Amino acid sequence: MAKLLLACFLCLLLLWTVPSGFQTSSDATLLPTASGRHLLQGSIAPLVNPALQNAFIALQAWKNAITSDPLGITATWVGPNVCQYRGVFCSPPPDKSCQLVVSGIDLNHALLTGTLPEELGLLTYLALFHINTNFFSGPIPYSFKNLFLLFELDISNNRFSGDFPAVVLGLPSLAYLDIRFNGYRGILPPAIFDKQSLDAIFVNNNYFACYIPANLGNSPVSVVNFANNQFDGTIPGSIGNMFKTLNEINFLNNELSGCIPPQVGALTLLNVFDASFNLLGGTLPDTIANMISLVDLDVADNLLTGVVPAGICDLPNLVNFTFSDNFFTSESPDCLRLPSRGAIVDDRGNCIPNVPFQRPPQQCAAFLSQPTTCYPKYIAPDPYGSWAPIDRSPLPQSYPAPPPPVAPPPSYY
Ligand SMILES: *[C@@H]1O[C@H](CO)[C@@H](O)[C@H](O)[C@H]1NC(C)=O
Repeated sequence: MAKLLLACFLCLLLLWTVPSGFQTSSDATLLPTASGRHLLQGSIAPLVNPALQNAFIALQAWKNAITSDPLGITATWVGPNVCQYRGVFCSPPPDKSCQLVVSGIDLNHALLTGTLPEELGLLTYLALFHINTNFFSGPIPYSFKNLFLLFELDISNNRFSGDFPAVVLGLPSLAYLDIRFNGYRGILPPAIFDKQSLDAIFVNNNYFACYIPANLGNSPVSVVNFANNQFDGTIPGSIGNMFKTLNEINFLNNELSGCIPPQVGALTLLNVFDASFNLLGGTLPDTIANMISLVDLDVADNLLTGVVPAGICDLPNLVNFTFSDNFFTSESPDCLRLPSRGAIVDDRGNCIPNVPFQRPPQQCAAFLSQPTTCYPKYIAPDPYGSWAPIDRSPLPQSYPAPPPPVAPPPSYY
């Protein structure tokens, strides 16, 4: 998180160093050339450098690719002084040249519809590209590979779809990758976790599927969010290798199965671990008791069983421990004392004797009569709803055994 904060600070610094004295001359004119590009001509010429001329070409191409602009933002995208366009920010490039370049695009919440044209790759010095909450669709231009300074890419909450935009993996400076709330599907390329420039990965709320790549632990990020996708398979054991950097990880609402790997215990900087609404089985690893920075621990709505160990409930920074809607059979008295320490604990919907709001005994008996295994399930929970939380389903009279694993998922690696 510290790295992220530093990153944000650097960005603000960058944006606020936009000089206000950059003047344009009103008699500057734009002449279309035979190639369809535009040249800047007139008394502006001595002030405009090649980078800004390229930016002009890029931004005019983008304006043409925008089909709806209800807030009238691109109406300000007129004339050669691109540094005064709304949403466009200029500053000197890092080589301390006295020329201005376009260093940031911030069009968050602009409600624009359209696509990203290849010409955007002409914004060679771009450090920030923020277009969250618009209606952009189509590919991320291949020419983005030229954006060697791009540090933050936020295209979240748009209408992008198709495969993971692999071009972003070639950006040497990329630290913040946010593609959440789009329509991306398919596999997550393993290269995303080998990319050492990244500090934050947000791929949540898409339709990604298949395994979370096993090399997860190679990633130096402080934050990663996989929530609300269709990932299956297990949580990679390599997660323990992220102990030097990881502050938050979120697996919420996927189809992950198998057991929580004991290697998570190495994550002593982790504040937030959310693996709720999956198909995780087995018991909670005792090693979680080593995760001394944990503040929020959420494993609700899984198929976990056994004892909730004292060591977890004794974690010094724990504020919210949710393990509702599993099949735990007992919890340490230390967990029952968590509320007196001001922490929230949600133990409802389990199989713990003498604790209120537990599952009906028949439901517990049926589940607990089956052997637990860390072998991943490749199938969704059974269609009879017998594992549904107690307050959301009527109690079935009998419980069919879960069907055996069907075809294994296709192997991509
Ligand atoms: C505790 O965590 C649960 C699950 O993540 C969440 O729904 C709830 O709002 C949290 N409670 C507080 C007070 O933060």
